[in-house]
Amino acid sequence: MTLSILSVASEAVPLIKTGGLADVAGALPAAVAPHGIAMTTLIPGYPAVLAKAGKAKAIHNWDSLLGEPARLLSTKLDGQLLLILDAPGFFAREGSPYQDGTGKDWADNARRFAAFGRAAADMAGGAVKGLRFDLLHAHDWQAAMALAYLRFAPPAGGKAVPGVMTIHNMAFQGWYPASLFPQLQLPRTAWSIDGVESYGGVGFLKAGMESAHVITTVSPSYAAEIRQAEFGMGLEGLVASRGDRVIGILNGIDAALWNPETDPDLPEPFSVKTLARRRANKRALEAEFGLEPGDGPLFTVISRLTWQKGMDVLLEVLDHLVGLGGRLVLLGSGDAEMEAGFLDAAARHPGKIGVRIGYDEALSHRMQGGGDAILIPSRFEPCGLTQLYGLAYGCVPVVARTGGLADTVIDANIAALSAGVATGVQANGVHYHALASAISRTIALYRNRSAWQRLQKNGMKADFSWGASGLAYANLYASLVKEAV
Ligand code: ADP
Ligand code: GLC
Repeated sequence: MTLSILSVASEAVPLIKTGGLADVAGALPAAVAPHGIAMTTLIPGYPAVLAKAGKAKAIHNWDSLLGEPARLLSTKLDGQLLLILDAPGFFAREGSPYQDGTGKDWADNARRFAAFGRAAADMAGGAVKGLRFDLLHAHDWQAAMALAYLRFAPPAGGKAVPGVMTIHNMAFQGWYPASLFPQLQLPRTAWSIDGVESYGGVGFLKAGMESAHVITTVSPSYAAEIRQAEFGMGLEGLVASRGDRVIGILNGIDAALWNPETDPDLPEPFSVKTLARRRANKRALEAEFGLEPGDGPLFTVISRLTWQKGMDVLLEVLDHLVGLGGRLVLLGSGDAEMEAGFLDAAARHPGKIGVRIGYDEALSHRMQGGGDAILIPSRFEPCGLTQLYGLAYGCVPVVARTGGLADTVIDANIAALSAGVATGVQANGVHYHALASAISRTIALYRNRSAWQRLQKNGMKADFSWGASGLAYANLYASLVKEAV
């Protein structure tokens, strides 16, 4: 029997992306399809989404969705059904999905994403003619209220379907003051400690976690970490109380988009058998960033420039990196102070450090295909995708030992090197000495050509496709649907 799943996400490749959530939401339908799952994705109708979706058919109207008129548009993307919530009062604005052009969160984000959740609950609950779903899968706080609406305010005559809440990042919870509650059009019973109330206000992610039948996160290590205060960000008690209903399913990578052999963005495509061709990509990257050639490794960073990603500590170790003969190319945007810090480092080390502030998908591919190593010193990392792309592209990951980074990179310690299984370098903490020593180790490894090639080849041969994780999600859906009947 084919199960019909509604996947609800605030971003999805190739329509709109600000981070890894989009990669995952975009890849999931094809990942579960081979296992008898028909997945439909619901996404907000931002201008970029409406423009890329092309011809779409209106299949439902809301006169007032939390105060704004809205319609549901239906189209197909890569053979899968895609639904778009076209609510101009909420989504027809330029800027990022969550912030205005100055980087400030939209003042009405709570209402925008509550409405998104309300629409998803109507759809999963059977209120939209022609749509039928067996389960609702919500991603992150922006989609989480869908589960709360399904539980506390299902559509009249609606069907109760089970729900899965996936946490891609516990640091973003969608927390709002209690004064929001009356605007949500939820019954009073929803205002409780096991409902939407969270620390005296309304917690979107918390409400989703309370209302979901199973909570998943995107790596086994992070699933364990969020039981502790350091990573649980106030919700560790709730996570612990859900016991074995909190599971970690590792993200995969979409080989249709991330394959060095077929990547149209690479000047010189290559594979594990033609690794020598990579050199041309490195030369092109050096030229693009105006770097001098050198015999040390070319490090890359492709990241949001934030505290989570440890970018403040990376700034401190750049002189050390250059002092040992390393060079760096960085692509990212985020905190204004960090952006300024990296631009300053580039000015201090001309020809050795190149910095691009901004977001550039094609350049990110060229950096994975031309850099020697990718630096990811995150303080916490639910899964992380850039280390997986690095592995696939022979761009050796140098990571902090946390969350999904710990689960996917095998540190080049003596045991792993002698067994021939290492794929990268893990830093033991996110502070100056841990990172400086990881960089020193990486540069020493790089100078041993055969050891370095081994690292590259091991990573390229490792399987981080969606195969196993697609099956894990499919099995989870099937077990919850079975449990519900
Ligand atoms: P997160 O979602 O926490 O930012 P992930 O590693 O899961 O971290 O995903 C980040 C995604 O965004 C990757 O696909 C990465 O290549 C991409 N990315 C991050 N910053 C940039 C940038 N400045 N330009 C292009 N792509 C970027
Ligand atoms: C979040 C996390 C990242 C994860 C991504 C996709 O943005 O920060 O670690 O890879 O979601 O699940």
